[in-house]
Order: sequence, then C-alpha cells, then structure tokens
Amino acid sequence: MIIKSAEFTVSNTKISKLPPCVLPEYAFIGRSNVGKSSLINMLTDVKGLAKTSQKPGKTQLINHFLINKEWYLVDLPGYGYARSSKSNRLEWAKFIKNYLEKRESLQCVFVLIDSRLEPQKIDIEFCCYLGERGIPFILIFTKADKNGVNKSQQNMSAFKKEMLKHFEEVPQMLLTSSETKFGKEEVLSFIQDVNQH
Ligand code: GTP
Ligand code: MG
Repeated sequence: MIIKSAEFTVSNTKISKLPPCVLPEYAFIGRSNVGKSSLINMLTDVKGLAKTSQKPGKTQLINHFLINKEWYLVDLPGYGYARSSKSNRLEWAKFIKNYLEKRESLQCVFVLIDSRLEPQKIDIEFCCYLGERGIPFILIFTKADKNGVNKSQQNMSAFKKEMLKHFEEVPQMLLTSSETKFGKEEVLSFIQDVNQH
C-alpha cells in the first residue's frame, strides 16, 4: 500500500471528543518505550509525525493520525511505566480501556512487544485482557535491528509458547524495525487487507 498523506488530526484525553466513528482505525499499544510512536512515523514515512522520546512515558494522550484521508492510525500512551504514580496508572487503565472497549471503528489493536526481551508478564496479561473482551489484535515485535535475526525469532517463539497457555490460537506476529524499515510492507498490507474486507 502506498501512503499518500498522513496528517495529525487530534489529541484527546476524553473519549467523547474523539473523531466521529466513521473511518476504520488501528491503535498501537504496548509498554512505554517499546516504539509505538516510532513505528507510526516509520509506516507513514513522516519523521516527527508522532512524538518520540528516549524516555518512557512520552505519549500521554490518544492521538489520531488520518492516513490517505481514509483511515486512522492511533498512537496511545504506553503501559507499565514505573515512574508514573499509582493513581496515574489507574487513570491510564480507565481511559485506555474505555477507548479499547467502546470504540466501534477500531478494527484491530497492534500490541507492540520488544523483540529483544523474553516474554514479559505484563504483555501476556494485556493480551489476555484483549482476548477476554474479544478485542481483535495482532502482535508486532519491535526493534529488530537491535538483535540478530535468531534472537528475535527465539523471543517470538517463546512468546508464542507462552500465549498458547492462554489462547487456542496465537494471533498473527510480525517483526519490525523502525530504524531499518524492516516489516513495513507486512504491516501495511495487513491494514490494507482489513480495510478491504
Ligand atoms: P511511549 O510514548 O513513552 O509509550 O513510548 P513509545 O512506545 O511511543 O516509544 P518511542 O517510539 O517514543 O521510542 C522509544 C525509543 O526507542 C526512542 O528512543 C526510539 O528512537 C527508540 N526506537 C523505537 N523503535 C526503534 C527501532 O525499531 N530500532 C531502534 N534501534 N530504536 C527504536
Ligand atoms: Mg509514544
């Protein structure tokens, strides 16, 4: 798929102020610093479209980006950011869960996982939460450039094994790097397929 235009639309803390539910959208979620905002920039080829940072906790709001004037990519704040206060974390959960559970135009959630790490409990738990609510998701492993291919594959297999303890089938898994653009076409063609279904 060719991305002809990518524009920032709106940032929100309030679900009531999101754009109307008329265009399909895809949301990026995962631990703080896993590379959600970087992946949005990589897919759209627009540096700085989504704000990134070396420090976790950069994205704090629900950010909509309109792509080809036809669908949205949605950047969400990360989970598991230890330095935010407990009440902040609870607020995060309410606000994001509200979005994930109520947003009718949400086609699929992309759960981002750091390909350098062995399966993390918080990621598995988050997948289980999505599964229980029947929210469609796929897994996108990030930062492939920081590993040898074998290491990424090893961690992906281990993650799959862990998921099979909770799920009958494991959702699609893609490996990406925002640094080298590895996996870009796979993510975009996944979106294209869903858009055309
Ligand atoms: P929060 O908004 O804080 O939840 O983080 P995020 O998940 O949006 O992460 P972000 O995209 O801001 O990236 C965090 C850091 O990881 C930045 O320093 C990025 O440059 C780096 N990074 C992200 N993706 C990649 C990648 O594929 N390869 C490498 N080498 N670095 C990456
Ligand atoms: Mg971010």
